[in-house]
Amino acid sequence: MASIHTIYAREILDSRGIPTVECSLWLDNGMAVVASVPTGTSKGRYEAVEVRDKDPHRMLGQGVLSAVNNINTILGPLLVGRDPTTQAEIDQLLIQTDGTERKSKLGANAILAVSLAVAKAGAASQNLPLYYYFGQLAGTTNNYAIPNCIYTLINGGEHGADNLDIQEFQIVPVSSMSYADSLNLAMTLYHQLEEVLILKGAIHSVGLVGGFTPNLYNNTDAFELLVETTKASPYTFAQDVFFGVDMAASSLYKDGKYHLKDKPQPYSSKELYDYYAMLRNLYQVFSIEDPFQDDDWDSWKDLTTELGATTSIVADSFMATNSQRVQKAIQEKACNSISIKPNEVGTISETLAVVRMAKTAGWQIVMSHRSGETNDDSIADLAVGVGADYCKFGPPQRGERVAKYNRLSQINQELEYARSSAAPAITAMPNPDATPEALSTVGASP
Ligand code: PGA
Ligand code: ZN
Repeated sequence: MASIHTIYAREILDSRGIPTVECSLWLDNGMAVVASVPTGTSKGRYEAVEVRDKDPHRMLGQGVLSAVNNINTILGPLLVGRDPTTQAEIDQLLIQTDGTERKSKLGANAILAVSLAVAKAGAASQNLPLYYYFGQLAGTTNNYAIPNCIYTLINGGEHGADNLDIQEFQIVPVSSMSYADSLNLAMTLYHQLEEVLILKGAIHSVGLVGGFTPNLYNNTDAFELLVETTKASPYTFAQDVFFGVDMAASSLYKDGKYHLKDKPQPYSSKELYDYYAMLRNLYQVFSIEDPFQDDDWDSWKDLTTELGATTSIVADSFMATNSQRVQKAIQEKACNSISIKPNEVGTISETLAVVRMAKTAGWQIVMSHRSGETNDDSIADLAVGVGADYCKFGPPQRGERVAKYNRLSQINQELEYARSSAAPAITAMPNPDATPEALSTVGASP
């Protein structure tokens, strides 16, 4: 069995041009893997803590050299000689070494980079595809499939350009559609929407993750444009494609009310509930993420009771991939879906535990990117491995987003091949991490 030889980290830039952590792990058999971690913009208050340098003279205070140093001097040396397939044991050691409730000492950004690198090394050491290895860790069966995708087309809120309040206007292809057809639909509608926006003189630019940030009067106008776009396409609205939103409502909440430009006065929780019922009925919005702020439990419960039978009520920053909050929400029936973001909790094992807990409660799993992404595509493997219901990786545009969609295309082809009679046994399948590029770093350990 291969063991960990060296772990070494560095600071890199994420898709927003803000520093994040990347980590290389060398095994004693010469294999090497690289893992990097994403970061959020509309971060929830219950997330694990990212350690940043706060040095105003460097990287505008956003540097992560201290987190990198925590890997190079503490976490890396601690894992030398260990078997990378002992993920749970290693994650436990990382958690204990940090010793704080929300990983604020060494940083969830440092800890997750190591945890993810260990998972990749575990897969590589067994010559298994990463999704398959995640499936083994998660205890899921061999029926791997590509989850449905939730694509963002328009951005507002903290991801936008101050035009719209809703953070994400999403399209969700009907679940019976194959991945190839779903990607075709998303690509077609994305570019069709661009044409519609140009025709209307509403084109502005794109937001943080690549969705359009049009100049419109209010949020409802965006749905009208999405309906118009769909009508101008070969697809049928409410048959081939449905809509979703990420409200990121904590960022709309001020002085006890929710502020949206659809109405001059701010919304009470009850008025916002009525707004959602309108979106559901008029625009087939059947997925609503973070509809209320993170402590508005009663409103979450009411919405789930009233709309939950037909609508996904998705908890993102509300749950923060945190098992204690998930436990409480299961008891209180406060949502029926969860957005899973490994960096909200900080280790692969804890992420898998939350997925397991949520699945047992019958919730839907939405495996999600962050707004600050890297080209690390392992979130696609994680989605397939745990058997997520949905993936949320942004629009079908921008390098760091399409890295994930393209990885799904690779996995899709591998799965189709594995189902064909010509396929060799899984252990002989090519390992995505054992690429010539990765192997060329052999012996280059610092
Ligand atoms: P974030 O947003 O990564 O900026 O938190 C993504 C989301 O809310 O889903
Ligand atoms: Zn969200």
